[in-house]
Amino acid sequence: MCGIVGYVGAKPAQGVVIEGLRRLEYRGYDSAGIALVDGGTIVSDKRAGKLANLEKALADAPLPQVTTGIGHTRWATHGPPTDRNAHPHLGRERRVALVHNGIIENFAELRQRLESDGVEMASDTDTEVAAHLLEEQLETGVDLTVAMQNVCRGLEGAFTLVAVDSQDPDRVVAARRNSPLVVGIGEGENFLGSDVAAFIEHTREAMELGQDQVVTITREGVSVSGFDGTPAEGTRYHVDWDLSAAEKDGHDWFMRKEIFEQPRAVADSLLGRRGTDGLLQLDEMRLSDQDLRDIDKIIIIAAGTSFYAGMVAKYAIEHWCRIPVEVELASEFRYRDPILTASTLVVAISQSGETADTLQAIRHARVQRSKVLAICNTNGSTIPRESDGVIYTHAGPEIGVASTKGFLTQLVACYLLALYLAQVKGTRYGDEISQVMDQLDQMPAHVQTVLDKAEEVYALARDHVDSRSVLFLGRHAGYPVALEGALKLKEIAYLHAEGFAAGELKHGPIALVEEGLPILCVVPPRGRDQLHDKMISGIQEVRARGARTLCLAEEGDTTITPYADVLITLPQVPVLLQPLVAVVPLQLFACELATQLGHDVDQPRNLAKSVTVE
Ligand code: AGP
Repeated sequence: MCGIVGYVGAKPAQGVVIEGLRRLEYRGYDSAGIALVDGGTIVSDKRAGKLANLEKALADAPLPQVTTGIGHTRWATHGPPTDRNAHPHLGRERRVALVHNGIIENFAELRQRLESDGVEMASDTDTEVAAHLLEEQLETGVDLTVAMQNVCRGLEGAFTLVAVDSQDPDRVVAARRNSPLVVGIGEGENFLGSDVAAFIEHTREAMELGQDQVVTITREGVSVSGFDGTPAEGTRYHVDWDLSAAEKDGHDWFMRKEIFEQPRAVADSLLGRRGTDGLLQLDEMRLSDQDLRDIDKIIIIAAGTSFYAGMVAKYAIEHWCRIPVEVELASEFRYRDPILTASTLVVAISQSGETADTLQAIRHARVQRSKVLAICNTNGSTIPRESDGVIYTHAGPEIGVASTKGFLTQLVACYLLALYLAQVKGTRYGDEISQVMDQLDQMPAHVQTVLDKAEEVYALARDHVDSRSVLFLGRHAGYPVALEGALKLKEIAYLHAEGFAAGELKHGPIALVEEGLPILCVVPPRGRDQLHDKMISGIQEVRARGARTLCLAEEGDTTITPYADVLITLPQVPVLLQPLVAVVPLQLFACELATQLGHDVDQPRNLAKSVTVE
């Protein structure tokens, strides 16, 4: 997730901005840049790679010692992580410099309009359009604050924008919609940051902004308005976190923070996917409609959590598109001599984009002339680079080794792929696809509803600190959720945990059930009666043998009450989308249990975030 810093005061801005960016490094990034206002001109430098690359460039070619500046660490979304795509972006006349976090959904049409007016784009980013639009506004004679208000009213999506105007060196202006931005209030100086970590070494007085607000900072003060120019008030607060807590947004672990970021991550992954004609559009799909129509089989390859996302994808693709789908562990794929042809689509799911098993599998598939589509969270990583097309998830960097928001956004990408194939192949009517998209748009709010009940799940986890083993049961799309719940518990709580398809119990695993064994059961929504009833039978079977059943079931499902020792309710959602809400309590359960057991939740023993060896 991008890091943003803005400063106006008495200190050399370069030092404040670079130090702020360093404090935001934990957010993950792939390029960094800075712009300063030097008496009527903008001076700027930006480099792909780590902050050290930018610092070296600044040491070789120092920028002037001035006291107004902005800086940025970029987590690539539109366009690869290169020098030219790094922020800040400048307007055509170099009057404005702008940094941005988020996704401007309508950037394609804005870019087209600017290009037809003769603007030459210097990058592949969505951000650059906002720099040109701001400059256009300033040319009409308004100040940077009004220019920002006017531009923001025409933008769609989620964004934090921070800009400076070379002609107005004592002012930094920012705006936010669905994206983080806080103000740091100092004495004779003021700050902007993606979070308070950017400035807590200078001031602990902060101001939170509301939705769709513009803030102007000068040395003397801070003023806030709505996008329509109406004066507004920010909410002041005192920061008493230490730096480490500030980086985690007040949470104890990055993993917990990332679990709570999921509503935003799901919403970001859905941004910009519907065109003005209502049709689904997947920017970097790069496979033509004809290529996709020719596909007669899909093989999904992935590892770990990404593999479980692939299992959910199978249900969605087969149901909506009627194309046979195989899901295969990447590490097994090459060794079984898979049948691959030019009409096989191989879908590689990888949060990091660097998993060696998955990479080798796609190389094998491409040698066999199959097309490869990557679903990945890391722009510019190896797997998308070596694929024919890519759907980027927009989770932002995931720091906790145990994947959480990575998983939810992979699910979203899988649903989008399935719906896109249905659109191209005509296996679903347009209104059916729109209906599912509308349901997906509701999911961030549903995930939030589950998170709002976190304390209930934490209490349950605390009741189980002495458990030696926990089982997970699911059916249909709930089966991969059960597997993922078990994986989370193994990874961070080091507990014996197994996930099973409920129907398989009686074929062996039921022998494990003994008095008091906790079994987390993912109950499907009631819409699919048979599925739901069969799940209840499975729960009855284990309960009859003494298991303690901890059931996740949709709100209003009273049929489960007699069989649940503990009931955690989920929002009512369609069966195929239920993994998006059902997995969240399992993440919270594992996180809390591991915390209670005193483990390092973010860096569990023996595990690495990116597994680059086979
Ligand atoms: C998830 O919690 C794990 N850390 C792990 O299973 C992971 O999903 C797997 O290694 C695949 O990683 P990838 O998505 O980066 O390819």
